[in-house]
Amino acid sequence: MNDVVYFDAAASFLKPESVIDIQADFLRHRYANAGRGVCARAGAVDDMVAHARQRVADFINADSAQIVFTSNATDGLNRATNIILAQYGHDYLPTVAVSDLDHHSARLPWVEMLARGKIRELLKCELDENFDINIKSVPKSDVLVITAMSNVLGAAQDVVAIIRAARRKNPNVITIVDASQYVVHEKIDVRAWDCDFLVFSGHKIGADTGIGILYIRDADKYMPDKFGGGMVLRVDDNMTIWNNAPDKFEAGTLPLTQICGLAVAIDELESHRPNLDLIKYMYDGLKKNSRIKILSSRDAAVLTFVVDGMHPLDFGTYAGANGICLRVGNMCASWICHALGVDGAVRVSVGPWNTKLDADKFLSVVEKIVK
Ligand code: ALA
Repeated sequence: MNDVVYFDAAASFLKPESVIDIQADFLRHRYANAGRGVCARAGAVDDMVAHARQRVADFINADSAQIVFTSNATDGLNRATNIILAQYGHDYLPTVAVSDLDHHSARLPWVEMLARGKIRELLKCELDENFDINIKSVPKSDVLVITAMSNVLGAAQDVVAIIRAARRKNPNVITIVDASQYVVHEKIDVRAWDCDFLVFSGHKIGADTGIGILYIRDADKYMPDKFGGGMVLRVDDNMTIWNNAPDKFEAGTLPLTQICGLAVAIDELESHRPNLDLIKYMYDGLKKNSRIKILSSRDAAVLTFVVDGMHPLDFGTYAGANGICLRVGNMCASWICHALGVDGAVRVSVGPWNTKLDADKFLSVVEKIVK
């Protein structure tokens, strides 16, 4: 199993040794709960969580009180939906703008809220001829969901310009950025972006599964969406006082082992980003095959294509049998697949572990499968 070429970093990143080591060490020698104990061992876990939170905050240019630990980006996007809707109450139904770049997790929570009569309308930012968000088409809305980089096409969107355009139409628009794919390749700056909410998953940057980040700019302004231990300051029969953010958004025991690994994963990612020259190299190789239609651009962060006369699932099965691990299907992003006129596609994505030898092996397997 270890000699497979893993070209599926965008689905889930392989874990650096340092992440595995620190999590094993934490589990073996340092484990205790956080926020509940008074002994030195528990205090050290509190310090570890505070350090990891600060590391995440520095990574995206936020304050640590704005960083909420979630279980992944899907959790963060669902929670952002509920947190924002609670703010509006029952008297006002907000409008929400989305785009066809969205992953299911970014748009489906709002589709469901529309079906339940909790929002007034779902509007759309249109895509231009390159399948990027057309800044001129950003509608006036109360909430705007922005996919900073599509998991199918891998092109970074101009988040600053999109948010600026939305605020020109409604200065109070609440913006949510799904940075799940963007975070691997480019620096995030929530202050420069001027966004209200931002999410990403730890498992896509080398941390474990079960840990994600929800950035909330005005965290103290919103009501908590989950209730339980660790998020209250005072409780009596008639009254509850919430803790300040971020604690009020973190009911229950946190995924401590995963948080421990996350800080190290960020250190690793900042010193070893995936080499996107490999994508260009494979793009140039695939271009020579007349049966292959490439859907992504040469300078994208992923390489996505379809093969004339071959179903993506068949391609994936053949590639897997030849030692190449990659993603096929609609990639939980049905809308962009429809816009591209395909039911699904094949996606190659790279991590820092991939080499030119891997790319050459991939190209020779493609040559064998697609004659
Ligand atoms: N959303 C993930 C992907 O793009 C799982 O593969």
